[in-house]
Amino acid sequence: MTRTVYVNGDYLPETEARISIFDRAFLMADGVYEVTSVLDGKLIDFAGHAVRLQRSLAELEMRAPCTMDELLEIHRELVRENGINEGLVYLQITRGAPGDRDFAFPDPETTEPTIVLFTQNKPGLAASPMAETGMKIISIEDQRWGRRDIKTVQLLYPSMGKMMAKKAGADDAWMVEDGFVTEGTSNNAYIVKGNRIITRALSTDILHGITRAAVLRFAAEAQMEVEERNFSVAEAQAADEAFITSASSFVMPVVEIDGVVLGRGTPGERTRRLREIYLEESRKTAV
Ligand code: PDD
Repeated sequence: MTRTVYVNGDYLPETEARISIFDRAFLMADGVYEVTSVLDGKLIDFAGHAVRLQRSLAELEMRAPCTMDELLEIHRELVRENGINEGLVYLQITRGAPGDRDFAFPDPETTEPTIVLFTQNKPGLAASPMAETGMKIISIEDQRWGRRDIKTVQLLYPSMGKMMAKKAGADDAWMVEDGFVTEGTSNNAYIVKGNRIITRALSTDILHGITRAAVLRFAAEAQMEVEERNFSVAEAQAADEAFITSASSFVMPVVEIDGVVLGRGTPGERTRRLREIYLEESRKTAV
């Protein structure tokens, strides 16, 4: 079925959507994005994604093409139009298409930002089989740039990381810098020891996950404490449980790291509980 997508003010069939070859995101990866999940036909944590988007834009001195209220309406219209009950909305804003290739930023007065949104239909997103089996992770060196707190479309190294994991027979990779895990290729990384959730503190080293913020807020409800600090792969391998979070996977258990099985090799009880709480609570505030 042909999707309806949104490009620069128009709702169009995906086959009719057009972007200039001079678009800065195509030539320079000069763009930012957000992925918002949809459950029960409603957007999960839209406000959080909107705040982070504005921060990404501001950090790159990029103009927002519309207000956040307008953005919410576009998200909702696409969800309605494409009949999404469970899935994702992808949003990308770029510095636009100045009509030629030049390293210097174009004048924002004359070059409009580009905005594109599309939906991904994912029935069964909340009831993912992976939540029952857990994920196998490998560790790889973190070779990304130093501003990982900005959600840019420079995703080549994360893509390479996913391929390294696939080739190793694993589901994803955790990236390691100076001996400590930064984050997953497209998710934040956690370990559990007793009743403590341990995850790297926020800095420019990692993306400030919207799901991360929610899960840490809900920790108390799961009778858990939060410790924001670095951890190594060796510490993770010796942990009771491990998991990742992201808008597309929510809370997903990790059962193996670099071939070392965690606990009994099945998703841990605390991770299960956190996933349950996250899904329950975020459905309540979905818009
Ligand atoms: N990825 N870290 C990285 C590097 C990410 O790319 C993501 C999200 C996260 C989790 O952030 P959030 O909880 O706000 O989704 C952490 C999205 C889902 C993606 O690229 O598809």
